Parts: sequence; C-alpha cells; structure tokens
Amino acid sequence: MPRRIVVTSALPYANGPIHIGHLVEYLQTDIWVRFQKMCGNQCLYFCADDTHGTAIMISARAAGISPEELIKGMHKEHKADFDDFYVEFDNYYTTHSDENRQFSELIFNRLNEAGSIVKRNVKQAYCENCKMSLPDRYIRGTCPRCKAEDQYGDSCEVCSGTHQPTELINPYCATCREKPTLQTSEHYFFKLADFDKRLKDLIAAGYTQKSVANKLNEWFKTGLKDWDISRNGPYFGFKIPGEENKFFYVWLDAPIGYMASAKNYCDKNNLDFDKLWPETRLAGGTSSDEYELYHFIGKDIMYFHALFWPAMLIGAGFKTADKLFVHGFLTVNGEKMSKSRGTFIKASTYLKHLNPEYLRYYYASKLTGGIEDIDLSVDDFINKANSNLVGKFANLASRSGPMLAKKLDAQIGRLDEKGTKLVNKLAAAKDQIIQNYENLNYAAVVRTITALADEANRYVEQNQPWVTVKTDLEKTRTTLTTIINAVRILTIYLKPILPKYAGKTEKFLNVDKLKFADVETVLENHRINEFARLVERIDKEQVNAMIEESKETQSAEPVTTGPAEPIKPECSIEDFEKIDLRIARVIKAEAVEGADKLLRLQLDVGGLKKSVLAAIAQAYKPDELVGKIVIYFANLKPRKMKFGLSEGMILAAGTGGKDIFMLTADVGVKPGQRVS
Ligand code: 2FM
Ligand code: ZN
Repeated sequence: MPRRIVVTSALPYANGPIHIGHLVEYLQTDIWVRFQKMCGNQCLYFCADDTHGTAIMISARAAGISPEELIKGMHKEHKADFDDFYVEFDNYYTTHSDENRQFSELIFNRLNEAGSIVKRNVKQAYCENCKMSLPDRYIRGTCPRCKAEDQYGDSCEVCSGTHQPTELINPYCATCREKPTLQTSEHYFFKLADFDKRLKDLIAAGYTQKSVANKLNEWFKTGLKDWDISRNGPYFGFKIPGEENKFFYVWLDAPIGYMASAKNYCDKNNLDFDKLWPETRLAGGTSSDEYELYHFIGKDIMYFHALFWPAMLIGAGFKTADKLFVHGFLTVNGEKMSKSRGTFIKASTYLKHLNPEYLRYYYASKLTGGIEDIDLSVDDFINKANSNLVGKFANLASRSGPMLAKKLDAQIGRLDEKGTKLVNKLAAAKDQIIQNYENLNYAAVVRTITALADEANRYVEQNQPWVTVKTDLEKTRTTLTTIINAVRILTIYLKPILPKYAGKTEKFLNVDKLKFADVETVLENHRINEFARLVERIDKEQVNAMIEESKETQSAEPVTTGPAEPIKPECSIEDFEKIDLRIARVIKAEAVEGADKLLRLQLDVGGLKKSVLAAIAQAYKPDELVGKIVIYFANLKPRKMKFGLSEGMILAAGTGGKDIFMLTADVGVKPGQRVS
C-alpha cells in the first residue's frame, strides 16, 4: 500500500531573494520528496511566500510600491529560482491569500473560545525621536536569555530563543540608536504555558530529532511564556476579527500558510483537505493515519515550529506534524555567508555561472539529517563535481554510449556471469540506500553510490572495451551491456539528487522514467539512443566570476534585497529647507596631528573666516584644496571635537576612505553667496 505523505519547507520571506543558504532546506526537502515519489508513494510538497510583517511594509515603502505589488514580484522571482534549481513543489502559494485569512481567523477564534487567548495591556517600546512604536526588528539590545549583544526585539540569533522587545537589556532604536521610552497598548496573547504538558508529550513521542528535543527541554525548564500575537497598525497582515487597528503578528499566520497552500491545492485538484490535514476532534481525538505530515525547517525557527505551531494546532483541534526535520545553517569556506567576501550568493547569480545540479549534489554529499551546520568549501565543491559527477558517474556513460552507437549498432546484448555479478552487487545496495534516503542521511547515500561507481569503473578498466572492440565485437557488446546496466542502476540511485541528469540518462538509455523498483530488473537486448554529454566539468574561473558578481550586486537592488536595517525616518522638505548652504573658498588646508582621516580647512565665507574639520584626508591632499570653491553647511551647530572646534561642514559624500567626493562649485560664484 503506497504511503500518502504531505511535506512542507519553511516559507521564505517575500522581502528578499532566495540565496544558497535557503537552498540547503529546499534541496534537502525536494530530494526527499522525489525519493518518496520514486518509491511509488504519493507525496505532496507544499510551500508559499511568507508575505506579512513590518519588514515587507517598510521595503515596499522604500521602493515606492504597495506591499501587494512587492510580494507579487517577489513570488515570481522565488518561483523562478526554485524551478531553475529543480525544486518541484506541488503548490507554491502565498500567505496573503483568502485561504490563509480564513484558517488564521478560524484558529484564532477557536483558541479564543477555548480560553487560550487573553488580552492585556502591555508596555511597548516607543522612540520619541522617530515618533513610532518599535516592533520586533526595529529595536535592538542584549538578549535577556544568553546576554548576546545587538539582538533584535523578537528573537536571538545566538541562542535562537524568542523574547519581547521590552525584555531586551539596554534597548535602543535600531533606526536612530536612541533609548526608547515605554507606551501602553492592549495586545492579544496566546497562553503557551497551557500546552506545556501536551507539548512535552509530543516531543517525548519523537516529534523531532534528539538534539532538538534537548534544546526544547532547556526552554521547558525556563518556563513557557505567553506569546504576543498582535501588532498595532500600520502593519501589513490580517486584521484581528473585531479590531480596527490590530493585526495578527506575521508568525501567527506564517505556519498556517502551510495549511492554506495545501487547501488551495486540494480545491484545485479535487482532493479532500479534511482527509489530508484532519481535525483531531472529528477523528475522535487522535490523528487520522491517512496522510503523514512532515515539516522541514532550519534550526533558527525551531521555537516557532516545535512550540507555538503545534500548540496552536492542538488548541484549535487540528492534526500536528508526524515529524519536524531540523537542519543546520550553511557556512562558506568555514565562515558565515558574507556580502563583502562575495559568498552571500543569490540563487539567480549562481545560475548565471553554474549548473544547479552541482549544488544539489554537493549539499546531498554533506547532509546527514542532523542539525550541524554544513560547510560549502569552494575547492571541495569543484573537486566533488569534477571527480565524482564527471569523472565517475558520467564517465561510465561516455565510455559506453558512443562506442555502442559507432561500432555495435546501438544495441546491447545479454549479461554474462561477470556482468550479472557486478549488476547484482549494485542492486543489492538498494535497501540500504532507501533507508538512508528515508532518514535524510544523503551523505551516506552519496558515499555508497560513489563506492559502487568506483567498482563499475574498475570493471571497465579490467575489461578494456576500447581494446576488445578492435578484435571481438560480441565480447565488447557483453562488456558494454554490463556498463549500461550499471549506469542505469546508479542513475536510479542518483535520481532524487540529480533529476535533470537522470532525465538525460533515461533518454540516452531509451527507457521510461526510472523508479526504485526498476533496480530489480535488467536491461538486455535493447537499443539505446544517441549519447549526449550529461554534465560538464567546472572551471574555477566560473566560481570566481560568481563570487565577484556577488560582491558587486549586493544591495544594488533595494526592491529585491530589502533594507538590511530599518531606513531613517522620513524627512520633509521643510526639514531640508532649514539647512543654510553657502559658497565658500578654501584658504588654508592642513593635516591634523593624531587624526589620519581629518583635514583642518580655513574657509572664506564672504568675508567671514570659518574653521572646519573634515573627514576627507584619505581622499584629498591639503595642497590640492587651497583655492577650491566648496559648498558650506553654514548653520550646523559648531561642534567641539578632540582636535578643536569645527564650525559647520563642507558637503562631500561617498563610501569612505579614498571614495569621498567633495561637492565643488563653479569658480564664477562668490564666497558667502547662498546656494539652493
Ligand atoms: O524564518 C523565515 O524565513 C520565515 N519566513 C519562515 C516561516 S516558516 C512558516 F512558519 F511559515
Ligand atoms: Zn529612533
């Protein structure tokens, strides 16, 4: 009886592009889903864009478009990237959908009726300087749990715990760094602690990996806290029923997006959602075993998926997942992905330079099903693609296909005893490979397949078809029949990881879509098709070019990348008009002792002499400045600095160091003259 399985990956935020860090999860999940399908199971893979929250609202504002427009464009981009990496969702939806609104309201109402939601006045951080309340990402400070500095208001990147913005130690406004004040406002809270026992039981029953369960136990010991699930407007999200200016916090409706995506698929494909994701109360308090349900996530969001999400489902009477699979982060060359090093590589940038299957194969060779981080070492990446993909797997096909076509009428014959022995050996690894795929231990799968390919290549060396072809065509046909059968079995094993490669091989072998059951049969007395190259070698230059491009393009596209930090508060034209800009002439310029970056400038501002300290010493030599006409910010409050008084400022801009450019004026203008 085939299994029926529903699988989800975490929903990517709709305010940034997919990058190679995200792809660890989508490739891990896609490989598993393809594997299940190849075993003859029905496996449905659902995902969606995570579209709500302050960050998306601010990104849209910065881009001068509506949040709806922003998420629409991003959905298209994300979908294209996933398609290009052969991540095959059964439905890739959005959390900004009717289905998601309905489920969010339903779950909220049920939790509310059950008394699991309370309303309370809370003190929230407010920045007097920016004139706004400071939600999650707009306030930073020291984590109340692990004391890591510079963490966001909702969660800690170091210990992965969540907290309230007001719990931060030494909080500051992420926009202007001012210390916030506290304001009172009514919020909705989900009483997570009410689910303490049921969550503990769920985790004890094997809801997730042991290492994750250990982390969760730490959180149980600290005590589960009420969770603030509302946000005051302005906010891009779903309004809370009965409220005018309060919205569901993005993390409430995001996981519900898994259900919404599934529901949307069911409606379009005539499937019964209630069977696929049953209500436990209808099924008499136990989950129906109709469909298995699995969530794949990264370790940064396990608090949400191992505590809040199952508690919401239990409280609202829905089935919880059979298992939560948690993976680690990606590092590149042993370090965190970095924009300045060019290792923060967007999926679309990667695709301009490299074949997506190199990355699928590389990640598979590293993934073990644990929560340890995986490292992409560039040299190892190139080596694995060239020596295994090209040198071991594709090599078997390229050593047999062209020779069969040229000398033997593209016709394979029958396996002899030696050939049968090799083919049986390859086939005998099937159960172990299946078990490793099932347990997400793809690294072990790849190791086994590589060892089998080594064996098959040894067979080629021993039987030397390129020699026998000159003297004994039928012996050569028998040898090549074995090799073709080895290619076929190895391709079955590799197919979840390398779907495109497998597709090309199926075409070349002239066979139907391969599945695991096909390992049991052999291919004999069969005509193959013309051989086409299966995969190319990587040249290091391609990787270097990709890294170079990643260095240049970051943050060049604010619409797609979104602001890394909150932008500054809006500045009106009236604010700008307060600035008194004047023409000035540099009469003297000199270095400042003890300050490498500063020059002291004497300015003539229409008879008035002013002294300004300017941080332009790495960009300009004092001599070249004398006589220059510059723009002077005349009414800037004089500042007493360690190196003397600076009266105003000259206008210059740039990224710093040598890259600073002074705004100079035409020599025809007179010092002291106003500039507009
Ligand atoms: O951490 C993230 O990227 C979130 N957008 C994941 C959401 S997963 C699910 F809960 F929706
Ligand atoms: Zn502020």
